[in-house]
Amino acid sequence: MIPLATTFLPAAFYGCAAVARQEWRHYIGRFWQPLLPVAALPLAGAQAIELAGRSLLITQATGQGVQVFVNRCPHRGVAFLPEKAGARPCRKLICPYHGWTYGLDGRLLAAAREADYGDGFDRRAWDLEPVPCQVVAGMIWIALGREPLPLEQQLDLVLEEAQPLLEQPRVVLGRHRQTLACNWKIAHDNTLDDYHVAIAHPATLHREQGPVRLYRHRLGGYANLLATPWPSSASGTAEFLTFGLPPWNHLLLWPDGRLAVISFVPQSLTSCQLELWLLGEACWLPQADRLLQELRSFLAEDQALVESAQQGYATLDASGDASFRPGPPHRLEQRILHHQGLYTSLMPH
Ligand code: FES
Ligand SMILES: [Fe+2]
Repeated sequence: MIPLATTFLPAAFYGCAAVARQEWRHYIGRFWQPLLPVAALPLAGAQAIELAGRSLLITQATGQGVQVFVNRCPHRGVAFLPEKAGARPCRKLICPYHGWTYGLDGRLLAAAREADYGDGFDRRAWDLEPVPCQVVAGMIWIALGREPLPLEQQLDLVLEEAQPLLEQPRVVLGRHRQTLACNWKIAHDNTLDDYHVAIAHPATLHREQGPVRLYRHRLGGYANLLATPWPSSASGTAEFLTFGLPPWNHLLLWPDGRLAVISFVPQSLTSCQLELWLLGEACWLPQADRLLQELRSFLAEDQALVESAQQGYATLDASGDASFRPGPPHRLEQRILHHQGLYTSLMPH
């Protein structure tokens, strides 16, 4: 069991380029990242996605399932598709530079004027570079580093509490992405923070989560959980589950099967990309815009707070060091301490 942090992570960890490099090597690289719902892909086709400065290509082909590759042609490094092309039905990938043509399984099918390469040219030596991927909860997850821990471990509490609900079929109800002007850890801390909800989201998330005295918390090896009665006015045993999981992800799971996946992917020391996917049964489609808007309302309330906290954390003293000393953690901030205990245990000392 990872020890809970007893104090908040010092402000110096939020604005230092050397720390950010170590995060990738020691912390972020251990984990898996939800990238895209399988339901967003054509049955045979591809989609490009940018994630933390990497361009990835996700393919699906009948009988071959989903695969993820580095979106970079082995010949001269050009991308096969731009992200703005969206999900594109196709049977092969043709490089726009010199026309090398790949199957959706990443194998080179043909190079333009291939005969001129001579006998030494072997197509089998020029596969696309694969990225480890798995499908869980209808989402495609990719490994962010070379030696990720098993995804089931990262999802420990999620699988324990919600596995049957997790695997039910879902369609995409909505997607939202935007840049937040804060370090990813400030956005992640905020979404693990069960102390602020009643104060900062009285008419949005707080209505969904209900009275603070009914909060149920669990802390796993990697994931943590806030469970609240659902619907908050009834006395049933169903719960709305809010999971936090490393490196910067949140899964919100309603008893009716709706699933929101929220990530805060680092862009720079002072910015991150908020990624939100909302999935659910097809019967929710007529209400999809409203449901997405409800989530965006509380995320907009959070945007103002995290961007303000960024200013507070980034203020330097006369000697150029972070001047902010965070206050004492409250009991309702234990999920932040849980995450920061994990973060600290993986970072070099
Ligand atoms: S870079 Fe792709 S074929 Fe040349
Ligand atoms: Fe919030």
